[in-house]
Amino acid sequence: MDAAKVDEALIAEYLDRLYEIGRLDGGGVWRPTYSPAWQEARTVVRGWLSAAGLSVREDAVGNLFGRLAGTEAGPVVLVGSHIDTVYAGGKFDGALGVVGAIVALRALQERQPRPRRPVEVFVSCEEEDSRFICNFWGSRAMLGEIDPAEASNYRDADGIVMSDAMAEYGLEPRRIGEARRNDLGAFLELHIEQGPVLEQAGIVLGIVEAISGLNRTSVQVVGQADHAGTTPIAMRRDAGLAAAEMLLAVRSVADELGEPARATVGTLTMYPNQPNIVPSRVEFIVDSRHPDRAAQVALLEAISGRCQEVAARHGVSVSIKTLIDQPPTVMDPRLVASLEGCAQRRGLSTRRMVSGAGHDAQVVGRKIPTVMLFVPSQGGRSHSPAEHTSFEQIVPGVQVLADALTELSGAGS
Ligand code: HGY
Ligand code: MN
Ligand code: MN
Repeated sequence: MDAAKVDEALIAEYLDRLYEIGRLDGGGVWRPTYSPAWQEARTVVRGWLSAAGLSVREDAVGNLFGRLAGTEAGPVVLVGSHIDTVYAGGKFDGALGVVGAIVALRALQERQPRPRRPVEVFVSCEEEDSRFICNFWGSRAMLGEIDPAEASNYRDADGIVMSDAMAEYGLEPRRIGEARRNDLGAFLELHIEQGPVLEQAGIVLGIVEAISGLNRTSVQVVGQADHAGTTPIAMRRDAGLAAAEMLLAVRSVADELGEPARATVGTLTMYPNQPNIVPSRVEFIVDSRHPDRAAQVALLEAISGRCQEVAARHGVSVSIKTLIDQPPTVMDPRLVASLEGCAQRRGLSTRRMVSGAGHDAQVVGRKIPTVMLFVPSQGGRSHSPAEHTSFEQIVPGVQVLADALTELSGAGS
């Protein structure tokens, strides 16, 4: 069974087009959820979904779907990724999964305009937490895991409450429950690896068996504001200094636990942030990850313990709050085997692997059989404008995605 060949020129055209939206002067893109750039990207993607002959629908939080009807009502085979990006993000993170899904579905339709099972492209709403730290908002809404009141819990860096951002975009937070779906049978997400494994091993495709558990923990350190010129060093309760030591401790904990533990502090705010005042307060967020739940919890506990130890030594107080706690997610073994079979039939090398990056697939995969397909990332670079995967590396991924969709939707039989 062969799927129709994917339209390679369209992949390049669509990726180039998306990379024009949300461009930053310093390089890369930023398309935070519900922002004008995000809306522009959605308008463009909507056009592509319609042009592919799919019926387009947006749900109560802003997830976008393009549906190819099946001869049977369900369950739906879902395929897609996200169009929101991190700040100064690259061309492929999320975008590849959306573009790949549309192009793969076009190829499937050429072979079989009416598959047995419906197939839908899923363009998720807010994957990166780059505006609101709201934890896979779109996919959780789709699974019915969000209470409408939750939209009032999050503020962006400008203090805008998420429910207001939704309303400005034309969505009513009280209707969030309507985003829930009960008709999904499978989810497939094509993505760049965002790490160096495939490139270093010279492997064409990665097939994800599990996605690391992910925690985001907010740490607030409170000391005392004092005059920088008059307060003797020994008398200070310097929240900045304590936080600096905590950052080093976070790194040591990850080192001590060893690979594949990850712990990162990517955001830190100091108050009052004046050169002549001993810092009174520092807030930072620890992003920590591990594919094994017990180790994920141990990592978290060690970070918290070490921060408390440092705080006591500096005479400052520390409060630690969990923002996100996502356990690791195991991918569906049948879907893993199905992707492997599709790749094998095309003579492509594959490797089973763990994803250290978080994805909508880790939320969806807790309830719906799910799998991810990786193409290599050059130099392992991602979450940076340096993110790159060549066209020759992308095409096999889209082709195998099309083959798998053909198989799963019954379009090849
Ligand atoms: O942060 C992550 O792992 C993902 O790219 N959202
Ligand atoms: Mn990302
Ligand atoms: Mn992504």
